[in-house]
Amino acid sequence: MKPLSCLILAAGQGKRMKSDKPKVLHQLAGLPLVAYPLALARALKVRQKVLVVPKDYGAIEAAVNTLSRPGVSFAVQHPPQGTAHAVSCGLKKLEKVTGDILILNGDVPLVTQSDLEQLITQHRQAQAVLSFVSVCLDDPGQYGRVVRDARGIPLAIVEARDASEEQKKITEINAGLYLVDAVFLKEALKRIGTNNDQKEYYLTDLVKIAAAQGLSVQTLTLENAVEGLGVNTPEELAEAEELMYERKRLALKAAEVRLLNSQSVYIDTAVTVGVGTKIMGPCHLFGETEIGRHAVIEPGVLIRNSRVGDAVHLKAGCYIDESDIGHDTAVGPYAHLRPGTKLAAHVKVGNFVEVKKSQVGEGSKLPHLSYIGDAVIGRKVNVGAGTITCNYDGVNKFKTVLEDGVFIGSDTQLVAPVRVGKNAYVGAGSTITKNVSAGSLALTRPAQSEIKGWGSRKKNQPKVKV
Ligand code: UD1
Ligand code: CA
Repeated sequence: MKPLSCLILAAGQGKRMKSDKPKVLHQLAGLPLVAYPLALARALKVRQKVLVVPKDYGAIEAAVNTLSRPGVSFAVQHPPQGTAHAVSCGLKKLEKVTGDILILNGDVPLVTQSDLEQLITQHRQAQAVLSFVSVCLDDPGQYGRVVRDARGIPLAIVEARDASEEQKKITEINAGLYLVDAVFLKEALKRIGTNNDQKEYYLTDLVKIAAAQGLSVQTLTLENAVEGLGVNTPEELAEAEELMYERKRLALKAAEVRLLNSQSVYIDTAVTVGVGTKIMGPCHLFGETEIGRHAVIEPGVLIRNSRVGDAVHLKAGCYIDESDIGHDTAVGPYAHLRPGTKLAAHVKVGNFVEVKKSQVGEGSKLPHLSYIGDAVIGRKVNVGAGTITCNYDGVNKFKTVLEDGVFIGSDTQLVAPVRVGKNAYVGAGSTITKNVSAGSLALTRPAQSEIKGWGSRKKNQPKVKV
């Protein structure tokens, strides 16, 4: 089989986005746009991947490096002089390349792996020098039009701004996804000029060049036109994102995840959800979140970059950020897990509890109204209602340690740094400022006293007007 390499074009200015940020860094369902073509190239197991980037590409490189196994090299195009020029710049990183080169515009995120596999199969069967993806749109807008001869053979792609009135009426457009024979590409690029409205080198001129030489040009016209949608404006980005979220919903339903009120469930591309899990909308699962099997997520939950184990029950209204939740644990309703929280298995975090950067051991309970920050809590610990770790003195943060089997009475303040030893008890209403030794009871509240008859004397006092 012919070797396959890939060029991804991401050096354009993206002016229509009206933003200083490079277009390919705009987020779509939790990933930068550029992540989508990169993932496709990886899935297609291409030999080499080159990303064509603008001069100052530090932010793009940083974003790409956060993706899993990017395995891509960067080719700088400066100044940008059109898509064919971008390809020439990219080829410098693929000097001795042979076989076919898959060229993907960096702003077409909805195309699927199976679309591109079809493109490759068809190209090879026809022994074509050039193949490209097209779609038919009711409103072809600014896309390049596919001009064919009477027999239907593609003759050219004409950009909307260069098209005649007749050509503008063509509804079949170029999606910006190509497969090209490397030898043909290198020769053809030399012949591409800038004789067009934008005075740029257009990659789309490849079609005209191949057609003039009578070489085979293939097209793959996608039935599902949205897969060819390009992202050029904020509106198109929003539209593509909605479509991507819908695709995720369908994929999860097919994978035996139950979604209730599913149109209000928004799940980012990189999120994984195990079978048998039930998610009730509205719900937002963002970033690199992993949800286990048979979990239940009630309405109003937002989770970002977190891992949620099997059979976890997240009750209504929880906000969970960069946290880990062990299996069979229950959280909420209305709990806030802040970054660095690690709940083990069989833990219970109840209503109106905030936990920050703390570990909670297996079987421990924080059932009501607490703030737990910078704490290490062992196994089978019971934290009473209204317990507060006083972890911050206005300058520094300090740690609270509750060892295995500890019982903290309600309305306790634990003034950190402080450690409560194994199986120790703290009486309700205490302010604990010193370590408590294992197995003992600590309490700081004043002894209760009684004044006999005070209540009835009070009631019988004469009223005085002020
Ligand atoms: C391009 C196609 C058009 C097609 C459309 C599909 C050309 C001339 N036109 O138009 O036929 O219908 O895509 O979405 O190719 N880029 C560079 N360097 C440059 C210019 C662009 O790397 O000098 C990159 C951009 O970052 C982008 C891609 O190439 O990822 C396409 O460029 P863009 O300017 O968006 O082209 P369109 O006008 O959308
Ligand atoms: Ca575009």
